[in-house]
Amino acid sequence: MVSKADRVVLIGVGGDSGCGKSTFLRRLKDLFSKELVTVICLDDYHSLDRKQRKETGITALDPRANNFDLMAEQAAALKSGQSIQKPIYNHETGKIDPPERIDPTPIVILEGLHPFYDKRVRDLLDFKVYFDLSDPIKIQWKIQRDMAERGHSYDDVIRAIESRRPDFSAYIDPQKQHADVVLQILPSELPEKKDGTKKIKAAMVQVEGIPNYDPPYLFDRAISDVCWKPNFPNSDPELTFCYGTTDYFGRPASYLSIDGEFAPDDSPELEQKLRNTSETRFGELASLILKHTDYPGSRDGTGFFQVLIGLKFRSIYEALIAQSLAAAKV
Ligand code: ADP
Ligand code: G6P
Repeated sequence: MVSKADRVVLIGVGGDSGCGKSTFLRRLKDLFSKELVTVICLDDYHSLDRKQRKETGITALDPRANNFDLMAEQAAALKSGQSIQKPIYNHETGKIDPPERIDPTPIVILEGLHPFYDKRVRDLLDFKVYFDLSDPIKIQWKIQRDMAERGHSYDDVIRAIESRRPDFSAYIDPQKQHADVVLQILPSELPEKKDGTKKIKAAMVQVEGIPNYDPPYLFDRAISDVCWKPNFPNSDPELTFCYGTTDYFGRPASYLSIDGEFAPDDSPELEQKLRNTSETRFGELASLILKHTDYPGSRDGTGFFQVLIGLKFRSIYEALIAQSLAAAKV
């Protein structure tokens, strides 16, 4: 449990739909009690409803279909502790419903397609996370979900991805250059699985100089480029865990990566080699993975890094409330 403070911390979680944002938010629930957190889905700021988008040919990804003035005004109001009347985009009817009152809580999460698109909104955010799903994995996950659960054909899935691509590339993807931490979800460099599906390589890129963020690293900070193949008996024999430095859109950064799959029971050993995890007790990261082995990504770096990003966000949150409490005492 984290203590309350008279300060609203705003976090932005961006990325295409289906890239793991909701799974990440579910994982955050283990770290913060319910009354501390409000999640705002930025789809609620669609200014054109489904019918209008269809008539104009403007997609939901296009900024012209979204009301950034209202988003900026309401994000600023929440951050300064005021309630808002937030619009609601109704995903069932495709219409914009009457607004609902939202009262600020100590943590407000703006989640969706455009959290970093508008500079006014971006500048209000205390921590910015982007989920960057590479095309082959995007296709694989969408096929798994839409074909298995929604009865779509393979061609439907590919067509849906293709039709989103121009606006995705123009308006969504470029936002990643503004993020503090990017979770890249890439095809593995290891051999494919027997069923032909791709394994995942997840890389957590962390830009240098994020306020209140001490980057996690592997083994020893002095060793800046290092890989470790743990060779766990129940995990991928080639499982590879790396740490290194990089350049992210002209900004110095470091990254952690995990290529391949591991048994969740092996996560304590993976965690032991990491430093600066911002755990409050030894083994916390692994215990959070083991708590939800049913969540997608619990057997690869996506879940592992989602939990790690959550722990790092908790420490940013705690630092910010401590600073605001200290300032209030002066
Ligand atoms: P978003 O909130 O960004 O739309 P979700 O967290 O709801 O994304 O994930 C969408 C779907 O993608 C899930 O239902 C699941 O099928 C798949 N998925 C998400 N994360 C993973 C993962 N790490 N590994 C495999 N599939 C995943
Ligand atoms: C995409 C976007 C969503 C958006 C939706 C609207 O799926 O990722 O953020 O809200 O389109 O589409 P709809 O089917 O409701 O018209």
